[in-house]
Amino acid sequence: MSNTFYMPQMSLMGPDAIKELGAELNARNFKKALIVTDKVLVGINLVDNLTRELDTHQINFVIFDGVKPNPTEANIEDGLALLKAEDCDLVISFGGGSPHDCAKGIALLATNGGHIRDYSKGVHLSAKPQLPLVTVNTTAGTAAEMTVFTIVTNEEGETKYPIVDKNLLPIIAVNDTELMVAMPKSLTAATGMDALTHAVEAYVSSIASPITDAAATKAIELIANNLEAAVNDGEDREARDAMQYAEYLAGMAFSNASLGYVHAMAHQLGGVYDLVHGLSNAILLPDVSRFNAVAKADRFADVARIMGVDTTGMSDSEAAEAGIVAIEKLSAAVGTDQKLADLGVKEERLEFMAINALNDPCSLTNPRKATTEEIIEIFKKVM
Ligand SMILES: [Fe+2]
Repeated sequence: MSNTFYMPQMSLMGPDAIKELGAELNARNFKKALIVTDKVLVGINLVDNLTRELDTHQINFVIFDGVKPNPTEANIEDGLALLKAEDCDLVISFGGGSPHDCAKGIALLATNGGHIRDYSKGVHLSAKPQLPLVTVNTTAGTAAEMTVFTIVTNEEGETKYPIVDKNLLPIIAVNDTELMVAMPKSLTAATGMDALTHAVEAYVSSIASPITDAAATKAIELIANNLEAAVNDGEDREARDAMQYAEYLAGMAFSNASLGYVHAMAHQLGGVYDLVHGLSNAILLPDVSRFNAVAKADRFADVARIMGVDTTGMSDSEAAEAGIVAIEKLSAAVGTDQKLADLGVKEERLEFMAINALNDPCSLTNPRKATTEEIIEIFKKVM
């Protein structure tokens, strides 16, 4: 079977990478940017790092700061209306996953028209390239700055759905380590565990390839060696830099090998309860992995070794379990080993979420097929 690999056209990475952006935009003759961000990032003045760079290079901009943590269809419509009213020829997202996801939707609809839901009933459904998109990333986890995915929340239906489209790729992705130093501990932990989930789900995906394996395994190694340090000391530049490479590598892996039941189930927790995406993944990853290890023990045994577990003398299934325990230890060390019931999740909604999880496109590449009852059982284990 043939394979297609997607990446942004250009990626600017490392300390002060954002200071390279203005010249790149000037070279492409952009006139006015719609900056897509949220009120928190405006409030703490982090977005000034971007607006200063645009001012220096005489690029006009208008700010849309209405993005919610789980961006909604309405957020995309509101941003699109502002883009049209202001006649912008470029979209720049600034933040973690939420602004990137919202900006991708805006840029896709700006050239393709219709409603964002129109692009969710299959993959690569848009006819035209989106309006040029630049992503400036301030967290190390979602990889939304560089993938072919966007995740949208349908508020009335209480669901989140992914859109997979090659026209969602940015022309430039910026991962500036200095913009990540301000991340609070809980966000560093949740986004780091999101990245670990991307890498693990891509590594055991039914469509993994040698390229995605290389990216996923390096990501797991970097996260195992650096996430705890980045959580404990946000100023640890070495750990922060390792984590921005790790999340990007994990993005390379899952943007091309897709994901599995952890994300399919986490999307429902986001849609129904507005739970933090990375935290939902961290909670679900060990027990979904136990379910999947039945089919992919050798791959989970690799995860154990990459995370530093000595598996000498163990069978594949023993080593797989040791790898899952290593994931649990890391999750506990960074404070994401929480219970769904404590976060407000109710047993009576589990069936609704399990049915929707099995209809989520991320389920397609999970290495072992589950019934609705089996998904409910996994939810119950982490209640
Ligand atoms: Fe994710």
